Amino acid sequence: MPNIISVEQFNKNEVEKILLEASHMEEKCLSGKNLNILENKIVACIFFEPSTRTRLSFETAAIKLGAKVISVENAQESSSTFKGETIEDTTRILCSYADIIVMRHPKEGSAEKAVSVATKPIINAGDGSNQHPSQAFLDLYTIKKEHGHLDNLNIAFAGDLLHSRTLHSLVPLLMMYPNNTFYFISPLELALPKEYTDELRGKGVSFKEMNSLKEGLSDAEVLYMTRVQKERFEKLEDYEKVKDLFLLKVEDLKDMKEKSIIMHPLPRVNEIDPEIDKDPRAAYFRQAQNGLYIRMALLPYALEA
Ligand code: NCD
Repeated sequence: MPNIISVEQFNKNEVEKILLEASHMEEKCLSGKNLNILENKIVACIFFEPSTRTRLSFETAAIKLGAKVISVENAQESSSTFKGETIEDTTRILCSYADIIVMRHPKEGSAEKAVSVATKPIINAGDGSNQHPSQAFLDLYTIKKEHGHLDNLNIAFAGDLLHSRTLHSLVPLLMMYPNNTFYFISPLELALPKEYTDELRGKGVSFKEMNSLKEGLSDAEVLYMTRVQKERFEKLEDYEKVKDLFLLKVEDLKDMKEKSIIMHPLPRVNEIDPEIDKDPRAAYFRQAQNGLYIRMALLPYALEA
């Protein structure tokens, strides 16, 4: 059963297939074609953490493909989890109603827990700071669409590299493509975890770690900003110290290449001045739109439809 839990489960061939399928989905959407390939399927979305883009784009994707949707938002309070039900029991129940489960949860490893008892495919829509594979696919799709290739790029990641699950999924995918150089820009407290830098070193991938946004801007073809993940800090005062360290301002754009793109998984809080939205390099809303096409490719992939 093709669950989608972590990007580590995909080889380059499969990644390319998913990107290609997403581009077919985009074409079909734009030409207004009927796409009832998931007719008679029920997609369950259960989100134990807030979401706008991920849940609604999965639901839109399901509806566009002819499926029906059952959905629990705010599941921490509104589902039986509130009464103390385990994630395993909740999963068993959802599997007896729906054909596929899309799940977001604040705890790392929760998607695997769900898989351990599931009789239907599980899509991990984010588990704590660990993984967010569908976001990484849409990020990759966006870079490919904007630049035409996924190799030979300088890619700068800025902000909360410690907790950002979108980045933890995206970096391994980008490592599949040759001659990419990574710039990891963060305060020391929010640096990329060692397991990722070890892997980069082990694979001979070129990367630099730095703590000033200015340093990375001029080389980058892709600047990927991230939100400081307030909900992952144990102490609010630790969050307060770092929350506003990196704000991309209009004047920073003059240091950036004309052909560069600015990405952000969104929501942005205080990382990108809204004035930048008018600049053609601001790719974050195009990126969010691409989420629909990627999820239209991932649902049939997991359902083998
Ligand atoms: C991200 C997430 O949930 O990890 N959002 C998203 O899915 N687009 C990023 C974030 O919350 O900062």
